[in-house]
Amino acid sequence: MKREDFPILSNKNIIYFDNAATTLKPQCVIDAINDYYRYYTANIHRGVYDSSVLSDYLYDSTRFVVRDFIHCSSAKEIIFTSGTTHSINLMVFGFMKDYLDKGDEVLLSKSEHASNILPWIYLSKEIGIVLRFIPLSDNYSITYANFLSSITQNTKVVSLAHVTNVIGDVRDIRQIGSYCRKHNILFHVDGAQSVPHVPIDFIHDQIDFLSFSGHKMCGPTGVGVLVVRESLMERMKPVFWGGGMNKSFNSKMVYKLKDIPVRFEAGTPPIAEVLGLRSAILYLMEIGIKKIHNYELYLKRYLIEKLSQNPFITIYNKNSDSGILIFNVNGVSSMDVSKYLNTYHICVRSGSHCSKMLKEDLNEFSTVRVSLYFYNTIQEIDSLILALEKCHDIFKIVEY
Ligand code: ALA
Repeated sequence: MKREDFPILSNKNIIYFDNAATTLKPQCVIDAINDYYRYYTANIHRGVYDSSVLSDYLYDSTRFVVRDFIHCSSAKEIIFTSGTTHSINLMVFGFMKDYLDKGDEVLLSKSEHASNILPWIYLSKEIGIVLRFIPLSDNYSITYANFLSSITQNTKVVSLAHVTNVIGDVRDIRQIGSYCRKHNILFHVDGAQSVPHVPIDFIHDQIDFLSFSGHKMCGPTGVGVLVVRESLMERMKPVFWGGGMNKSFNSKMVYKLKDIPVRFEAGTPPIAEVLGLRSAILYLMEIGIKKIHNYELYLKRYLIEKLSQNPFITIYNKNSDSGILIFNVNGVSSMDVSKYLNTYHICVRSGSHCSKMLKEDLNEFSTVRVSLYFYNTIQEIDSLILALEKCHDIFKIVEY
């Protein structure tokens, strides 16, 4: 699907299966970035000359593109950040630090990415909030029953990935969001692995905070989004202070901030990257996210069917409904497997994939991860399967 749009796939002989880490970029995104640098470079919100006005228009109207893509109420709810990590930190230190008190509970899971655990750990040490982890089921996912049993009268925030980056399980965020809204619990969704792959609806899923990255959805690195419900954003404090976010300040230490969301974008923002993100979103909308998800599931089923025939391979997450699959070649380190696959120009990730708490349940610190996207093909999977069939023999030969 759409392989011809990705210059790297025709320029380089690679099979790219590391899409959960970052995705390849289509020509339209590369063009959007190049055009800005080549034809109309200017800073935003500062100038009145033509290229500045054009940059202003394209940057600011990207908020409407994002609004329509994830379906939130207003373009004012969109803050541009440098990525999901920045988005979560802005939420935690710009809002939660003041909102939460000692003893208040934040509900997480052990399969969250480091970015959705470490800021909370820091806050728990700083102000004494309590972190609780929803127990994972036998297939390392979250059941609604386990979610409910983890709620206490002190639960103030639930912060979960929509799709986790190692197991790839898709959480029922609509059910969780509905519970949270009814019970006055704030709900943050880490959408880094879901927004590019599965439909999401900020309003109907009853989300309060949503974070995601541009580079995992065909966009450039260095740009991400934090979506915040308008009434909550009005209560949020900036973490970064400087130019572009203030209306005035004086030597009496009186200052006035600009309106939301601009007050959260201090300094020169990633203009070229936002324009690249705009192009990426329009591109994905044209293909259709549901179509992308269905195609990934089709590829994943095929991958599982073929990989299961190899007796030397252990697969850990056959049941997850995303394009992420983790496995090990028995007796071989995941790093060796990925180095070996690289000799076939197959790109996969190995290790703990930034989710270091998961090993407490998975009993495996390190796995090989294949993460699919819509430009992958059955033929590429066949090449992986073939390489892995030879892989075990190679390590046997090395061993003996
Ligand atoms: N969070 C990215 C991953 O899972 C980097 O690989």
